Amino acid sequence: MSDVAVAPGRPLTLGGYQVWPPVVLAPMAGITNVGFRRLCREQGGGIYVCEMITTRALVERNPKTLHMIAFGDDEKPRSLQLYGTDPEITAAAVRIVVERNLADHIDLNFGCPVPKVTRRGGGAALPWRRRLFARLVRAAVDAAAPAGVPVTVKMRKGIDDDHLTYVEAGLAAQEAGVAAVALHGRTAAQRYSGTADWDAIATLKQALDVPVLGNGDIWEADDALRMVAHTGVDGVVVGRGCLGRPWLFADLEAAFNGRSERRLPTLGEVAVTMRRHAELLVDQFVAAARTPARGERDGCADFRKHVAWYLKGFPVGGELRRSLAMIESLAQLDDLLGKLDPTEPFPMTALGQPRGRTNSPGKVFLPDGWLASRDDDAVPEGAEMDDSGG
Ligand SMILES: Cc1cc2nc3c(=O)[nH]c(=O)nc-3n(C[C@H](O)[C@H](O)[C@H](O)COP(=O)(O)O)c2cc1C
Repeated sequence: MSDVAVAPGRPLTLGGYQVWPPVVLAPMAGITNVGFRRLCREQGGGIYVCEMITTRALVERNPKTLHMIAFGDDEKPRSLQLYGTDPEITAAAVRIVVERNLADHIDLNFGCPVPKVTRRGGGAALPWRRRLFARLVRAAVDAAAPAGVPVTVKMRKGIDDDHLTYVEAGLAAQEAGVAAVALHGRTAAQRYSGTADWDAIATLKQALDVPVLGNGDIWEADDALRMVAHTGVDGVVVGRGCLGRPWLFADLEAAFNGRSERRLPTLGEVAVTMRRHAELLVDQFVAAARTPARGERDGCADFRKHVAWYLKGFPVGGELRRSLAMIESLAQLDDLLGKLDPTEPFPMTALGQPRGRTNSPGKVFLPDGWLASRDDDAVPEGAEMDDSGG
């Protein structure tokens, strides 16, 4: 049951789209593939962003990347995240998306804190180079505009507390013509540690006229309402909170519609969801595989990483957990799920708790001289990546 007063909600306007509830599934590499997105979409409304695609891989027509750009027939708007560091390559990638009608919405990733990315000036390091950032966002917006495809940016607060960029970058993105700006309330140095700074999200909301989306630490539907109440944001972006809990999107829809019911599935109901998730992944991988058997194995392998999240807090023995995390077929999965006690109630201790990545803060690796050259708008060397989804 909810104890939070419902903020009167408006749909999120994203270019020509009206999104209700104003909820976005955060792009998560290795997670938000077409199967996972369908599972979440079966629960509630919103926008569900696919895994990150690198602009270079798209321009080079990398087969793995092209395959990752997959959407359900009923996915609308089809939402694609691009990672790029070079305005020209980014514009070329956006033109491909538009000309081949691959997506209806493009999000640009400026939030990645991974050392191999920031060390080359990409991801969360890039907004520091304000002229390059503005040029890149404008290049994407201009390439998408003829097709009416809205472009958004997703970013962090900055590199660290001494090098904050979010307000300036938000204003620059707005000036460049983006449809919305999403802020994850952490710096790159924080990675996934500590708590997200919702005050910073409120500050950005105050500063911009375009819709602002708040991201960070929405573990329960009521957290989303609290974030809206605290910051005034136009929508929320939900990442780790839905890992092993796709029904969070049903709760979010209920919450934004002023209803107080929240899902507390029994272990039996969780097992049904696990089966559905695995089946959707198998369907996805079979479509790409040389043989159905290979597709089933790949789909089951992709499912394994989700097992611990689904079972978090439930009293399930180590051996059964380990076996579930090693499945190779749906038959094996069915057999193991049959060993769970379906009447086991949902563990209340798992509510409101962080899940997924919660690593410690760390040094942000940057190219030499990066911090001293804010107005250098040269494209950093070697920052384009050719592998998508990571
Ligand atoms: C496994 C994983 C993969 C992620 N991959 C991406 C990505 O490809 N692009 C991106 O912009 N953010 C990515 N993120 C960050 C999330 O989109 C989100 O900003 C972050 O998890 C904070 O939101 P949360 O507190 O709701 O999880 C990833 C996060 C996780 C946990």
